[in-house]
Amino acid sequence: MKKVKKAIIPAAGLGTRFLPATKTVPKELFPLVDRPLLLYVIEEAIAAGIEDIVIVAGRGKTAIEDFFDRSYELEDTLAKSGKTDLLEKISKIKNMANIISIRQKEALGLGHAVLCGAPVIGDEPFAVLLGDEIMLGRPSVTEELCQAYDKTGFSTVAIMEVPESDVSKYGIVKVSPNGSTFKIHNVAEKPSVKEAASRWALPGRYVFESQLFSYLKNTKPGKNGEIQLTDGMNGLAAEGRLYGTTFQAKRFDAGDKFGFLQANIEIGLQHPETSARLKTYLQELTRGWK
Ligand code: G1P
Repeated sequence: MKKVKKAIIPAAGLGTRFLPATKTVPKELFPLVDRPLLLYVIEEAIAAGIEDIVIVAGRGKTAIEDFFDRSYELEDTLAKSGKTDLLEKISKIKNMANIISIRQKEALGLGHAVLCGAPVIGDEPFAVLLGDEIMLGRPSVTEELCQAYDKTGFSTVAIMEVPESDVSKYGIVKVSPNGSTFKIHNVAEKPSVKEAASRWALPGRYVFESQLFSYLKNTKPGKNGEIQLTDGMNGLAAEGRLYGTTFQAKRFDAGDKFGFLQANIEIGLQHPETSARLKTYLQELTRGWK
């Protein structure tokens, strides 16, 4: 059985939850302290053994490609001024993995964005990591999914339980327990609490067999008029080839204002240059709060 060596990171969304900031800056490049969101996602993929990473971006997101390219002027200036530590940091980025850039010409939905990566994936299994979901901690979620795929050969996706109030923000799965994992019978994109089969939600980490593409090709626009990844996944579920698993990492929805702030605080508390001062600041700030 083939190992999971390729991943798709869809980064074509318009980032409307972060306007006006996202008017010219892709949300995937927003910093968590000093590193863009996308770098955390890419590192998660690399930690799982992924070698080729396809970034599917839309119009107005060329800064993402530039981020993984050489920056001659900056590198030259840093070299001349002896800032070797900074130079090393930015030089490392372009050698991290094999980054392949694909343009989604129309924002037709997440399922369509994933389908844009099909020519690079071919008939191999692949991971999908949503660019605004940040998972901190090891083992990485993608690593856990790849291990599950290695054992079973079935598409396996991360699932998490959410409160009722959040059900309508996610793809929701109908599951039955299957040893340490769950068999997924059906997926619904952002159902109302009344329609939802459970509170088990998709937090944006998936490992798929390439068969998913054949379903996505035939997927018609669904929720919000978009070609939904979840609708394509239903093809795999109907064949009994879709499983769900919980995960150990801590997850932040950094595409949302509150989740973004949380992730920044969490990483700021771990960062050697900010941790001590941030901790003291938070203690001072919250002293006397109820
Ligand atoms: C997308 C998916 C949804 C998933 C969610 C996780 O929705 O369509 O199934 O649960 O990501 O963040 P979006 O948040 O892009 O609207």
